[in-house]
Amino acid sequence: MITTVIYSESGGTYKTTMTANLAVALERMGQNTLVIDLDPQEGNLTSLFDAGEHRSERDADNLVKHILDMPDGDFDDLIETTAEGVDIVPSHDMLGDFTSNLEQKISYETGMQNMSRDEYPRFELLHELLWEKQELHQEYDAVLIDPNARAEDLLYNAIFALRTLVAPVKPAGKGNLSLEGLEELVGNMETQLDIEIGLSCVVPSGVGQTNAHRQYQQQFEDTEAFATPVTIGNRESLMDAMWEARGSAFKVVEERWKTFERDGEMVSEPSQRRVRDREIETLERLYELARFVAVDTFDTDVDPVLELDIQEFENRTIDLREDEETEATA
Ligand SMILES: Nc1ncnc2c1ncn2[C@@H]1O[C@H](COP(=O)(O)OP(=O)(O)O)[C@@H](O)[C@H]1O
Ligand SMILES: [Mg+2]
Repeated sequence: MITTVIYSESGGTYKTTMTANLAVALERMGQNTLVIDLDPQEGNLTSLFDAGEHRSERDADNLVKHILDMPDGDFDDLIETTAEGVDIVPSHDMLGDFTSNLEQKISYETGMQNMSRDEYPRFELLHELLWEKQELHQEYDAVLIDPNARAEDLLYNAIFALRTLVAPVKPAGKGNLSLEGLEELVGNMETQLDIEIGLSCVVPSGVGQTNAHRQYQQQFEDTEAFATPVTIGNRESLMDAMWEARGSAFKVVEERWKTFERDGEMVSEPSQRRVRDREIETLERLYELARFVAVDTFDTDVDPVLELDIQEFENRTIDLREDEETEATA
């Protein structure tokens, strides 16, 4: 089974974009995929996938109630299926108060059981829910989490439950992870959670054509410390259009979503986008990334052929194995 947290220390490093694209790529490869959105803020995976209709209703059953073992209904009723086939456990506003709710539960239960607060397994609750109570491994081939990097309790619960990280990193800016910084962080989490955490790979994303960006990319590709199977270019137009298409970059290209000005207003519509080679190449990179995670990290066989059914255009078939052969002979 494939289980990974899309992790990055700082915000705006394309975590949500990466989670959506990786999930859809895995689904297209034949993996039954679930994503869990732990970020209560605007612009999260739930809004990207147009899910979570009841996310602001206080009384609605939601993931927090299940993590804290006080559900109002069936866990299965929380799960929604997106247009691209990926299932999602949507975000809810209550995720923003997770820690205070958890503290109350800990006070109550430790008081009842004569247990010290430190002994309470506060980072193990999601693990228990997903694998022991819900046995999601029976139903899904892949589970991905988009966490809220600043909410320690939720992030640690996510990492404790899934054990593996994919880390998108962005060039330039001081919010960036240094290579040592990332290793140190994984080490600290391992000590604190007393588990082993696997770093599947690092994905430099938003990399442009400047010398500084190229150097940055080179620095990552040259390191032995972790794998860098692909680099995702600076694709603002493509990735921003995902928020209009309410889906992955695959959907944007196939349905040809574009945002443009009409009579002084910005509108977004399908069947408008030009088919660009560099965007098709980005889809190929994303597919390659998903294949790396599946095959190299989790030893799972997946379909290596990407079929793109582009509206009003010829279908494109990309076989990742052909690239490998070319690389081997070169
Ligand atoms: N490869 C990319 N190049 C340029 N912009 C991107 C890329 N990937 C995502 N973006 C844009 O960056 C913004 C932030 O991305 P998001 O995935 O929401 O980050 P995070 O979840 O880490 O806060 C979004 O507007 C998104 O469209
Ligand atoms: Mg996000």
